[in-house]
Amino acid sequence: MKLLSTSHDRSLSLTGLALSACLLTAGCGGGDDGGDPSTDGGSSDGGDGTLSTLPQPPLTAAPGTDDEPIAENPEFNTAQDFEVRREPGARLPEEMEVELTDADFEAGVPEPVLQIPDSIDPSSNQPPFFEGLTNLDVLAGDIVEIVYLPQDPEGGLPGMFPQELPQGATFTDNFDGSKTFTWQPLQMDVGVREFTVVAIDPENDQYRSSNSILIRTTLPDDPSSIPNVAPMLDEMFEYTARVNDPVVIRLKGVDLNGSVPTVEIPDLPAGASINQDPRFEEIFALKFTPVTAGEFSIDVVIRDSVDTSLTSTETVSVTVLDNIEFERTGARLRQLSANRGIKFGFASLQSFYHQPDGAIYADIAASEFDIVTPENSMKMDYINPLPGRFQFAASDNLVRFAQLHNIDVHGHPLVWYRQVPQWVEDTPAADREIVMREYIDRMLMRYAQAASVWDVVNEPMADDGTLRDSVWFEAMGERYIDVALRQARLSAPNATLLINEFDIASGAKANGLIALIDRLQQREVPLDGIGFQLHLFSSFDQYDELQTTFASIASRDLDIYITELDISVADGATSTEQADAYRRIVDICLNQTRCKAIQMWGFTDQYSFRTIFDPLPFDRAYQAKPAYYAIQDALSN
Ligand code: G3I
Repeated sequence: MKLLSTSHDRSLSLTGLALSACLLTAGCGGGDDGGDPSTDGGSSDGGDGTLSTLPQPPLTAAPGTDDEPIAENPEFNTAQDFEVRREPGARLPEEMEVELTDADFEAGVPEPVLQIPDSIDPSSNQPPFFEGLTNLDVLAGDIVEIVYLPQDPEGGLPGMFPQELPQGATFTDNFDGSKTFTWQPLQMDVGVREFTVVAIDPENDQYRSSNSILIRTTLPDDPSSIPNVAPMLDEMFEYTARVNDPVVIRLKGVDLNGSVPTVEIPDLPAGASINQDPRFEEIFALKFTPVTAGEFSIDVVIRDSVDTSLTSTETVSVTVLDNIEFERTGARLRQLSANRGIKFGFASLQSFYHQPDGAIYADIAASEFDIVTPENSMKMDYINPLPGRFQFAASDNLVRFAQLHNIDVHGHPLVWYRQVPQWVEDTPAADREIVMREYIDRMLMRYAQAASVWDVVNEPMADDGTLRDSVWFEAMGERYIDVALRQARLSAPNATLLINEFDIASGAKANGLIALIDRLQQREVPLDGIGFQLHLFSSFDQYDELQTTFASIASRDLDIYITELDISVADGATSTEQADAYRRIVDICLNQTRCKAIQMWGFTDQYSFRTIFDPLPFDRAYQAKPAYYAIQDALSN
């Protein structure tokens, strides 16, 4: 380890050395052997399938009036035709952010995590690695400098990239195969954080090893020795807006020394406003309405609140286009799909009206779609993050927007192995059945009027066709699915109840799901349909298998919903191939009478969980792509 001199004379530098690697294969991770489905940890199911009455008073704290969202100042959003509400209470406590601990640090350097394509045999092609990585103990104000030199046992020079650079850090190329990570942790960074660099196999760019180290930052004895750096704006992105639409840019000031900076606009454009958020003091909402097309730029001054003479200036800009730039020829997708007896929908970005392009987003959503799924706002750890604490505003707003535009809502998800709040993870297994039922009941009581379809159980299957492990499966075995569906039917008798799953076009997982369906139907468990997520790549080649699996589901008197369609473009594929894939999926749905809806997981590449693969029919500037017109054509013919 070489020490370089700095103002603190405590910089650290390392050159990577060899590491063993844990081969992350199907057997290495979680997954369940699918024990006896009849096992359960305490039962509110009378054995004949009837559910016991929920306890009064309830086992878990119910929402109260102090959970009811309140009206938001319109200066903070782009909504033009519906009222936006916001959470009433103070922000969630910081401890909600999952932090790494000293114990994590003392446990040593995390094992590399490998991504191994099926075509690779790790025994003959060892993964790329870094030598000599080690956890680092540093003081706030130190300069950390680590030289990363990726190596590969078979020779060749692996590629590499940092997974998430700390704010203010750099990862610079030394043009000798190595890159240097440089970072000055400050007061904001006190604690343990992970820094990960991904090495890419020289022969196959999908064969990767993610190599992390933990860096523990503590305050020096004399904090005044820490340099006071100028505050900055949190990461800004490219946005496109439409002439005469309101634009709201939420400017988040960041001062790595730990104070909250202020944000000022020296030359505020006529008609513009800037307001500090009442709940998030670091956020200032800039609202303006551009009246001409072009690059709309505004200089922003961020001022240190400890040393007010210390400022930085950044320019935020928005590309403004005329209305005609967003027009699409032909009929709207919701109109065409209605003519064919199906719904056409999308998953909505949470709080899209807080985005600078929220107005054009809303306009396209309202005109093109007649069913909407909340991408994240109805997930349990968001809705009910702490016992007795509920966050309904984002879902309430989406429901309000949907009802205004005659858009149905697809509730997602009620019971899932992911996004489970910590307090539920910590709940004794014997109590989880009631916890789950009370949550389902509360969500359906609040939203079933607006949401006719529900992903009651999301992703219950493991890849091998057994049931996936989860806090719910641990407590109740397979019966958690029975109980969830029975409670949903009880709470919302008119709702369409789905099990939603991915990667079930064919194979072990699809066969396992069908076997589960047969068991549920034998037990007379209420179930109305199956959601096929269909997160695909344009190279998808299981159209016939998908059609056959659709038929298997339909033969069980179940409806089919395509729930999360997106078709990624990678490995040199083209937007034309993507368009063709969209067309084929639409055709398969239209050819299956039980297929009731095609819902995409978003509609613009600007907001996609797979944005790097441009998977959706609108690009980041809301321009319709060939995929849009392929869908339009398939729905028309
Ligand atoms: O809201 C928090 C924010 O406060 C915090 O600062 C930030 C960083 O920790 O995280 C934010 O939450 C993130 C959330 O998206 C909202 O952006 C979560 O970390 C992130 O894990 C979550 O990812 C979502 C993922 O489901 C997990 O819930 C994706 O956006 C969403 O597209 C994806 O959707 C799933 C479906 O629900 C189920 N089917 C698969 C599909 C794709 O994975």
